[in-house]
Amino acid sequence: MNALAEQVRTYGLATAPQLLQGPALSQLQSEAERLVSQFTVHGYRSDDYWFFEQAGTREPILYRIHNLEQQGSAPINALFADGPLHELATDVLGCEARPTVCAMIVKMPRHAARVPWHRDRTSVPPNTVINLSLFLDDSNSDNGCIEYVPQSHLLPEDADVTAVHQRGPIEAAPARAGDVLVHDVRAVHASRSNSTDAFRRSIVIEFAPIDLDLPHS
Ligand code: NI
Repeated sequence: MNALAEQVRTYGLATAPQLLQGPALSQLQSEAERLVSQFTVHGYRSDDYWFFEQAGTREPILYRIHNLEQQGSAPINALFADGPLHELATDVLGCEARPTVCAMIVKMPRHAARVPWHRDRTSVPPNTVINLSLFLDDSNSDNGCIEYVPQSHLLPEDADVTAVHQRGPIEAAPARAGDVLVHDVRAVHASRSNSTDAFRRSIVIEFAPIDLDLPHS
């Protein structure tokens, strides 16, 4: 097993540095900008564009573009269909993997909310289903990088998420644009708000073994 796969198995999270670079990355960044500006500039709305209204100003704050592979974007569709993320997922899971869910996580400058502590799924055993987050922007604790509790993916299904993160230890998982953060869907994780003037965007694709019948999360 490779080192990254072993790290995911042991701790529940690991980073594949600079998996995408150059034109492959910049195409996705421009595409992300186009999709987000449909909402922020052109007033586009759909059930896939998840937002909340800011208290007071009622300004709509976009935080997720769901069903990202269905938004008519060629570079994103290509990423979902095949390529480096599929290879990485297959390496980590040790079997052929298929993409199940695809979304863009958007932390708008200044206004993004924190994401509370949670687990993405607990209906599957540890080391079975993973989330790959391809970062389109650098991410650190100022703009809401992912934080997690190492080894929490091994805790039972009914573990108390609040107690788990309060007990800690909590580890920050900063990333650079082009890095792919791999985490077990059972890992207890969260992210803070974005206090900077820049976007923090990532494309998240969940991968499961090709023969696993996965219930909806
Ligand atoms: Ni999550």
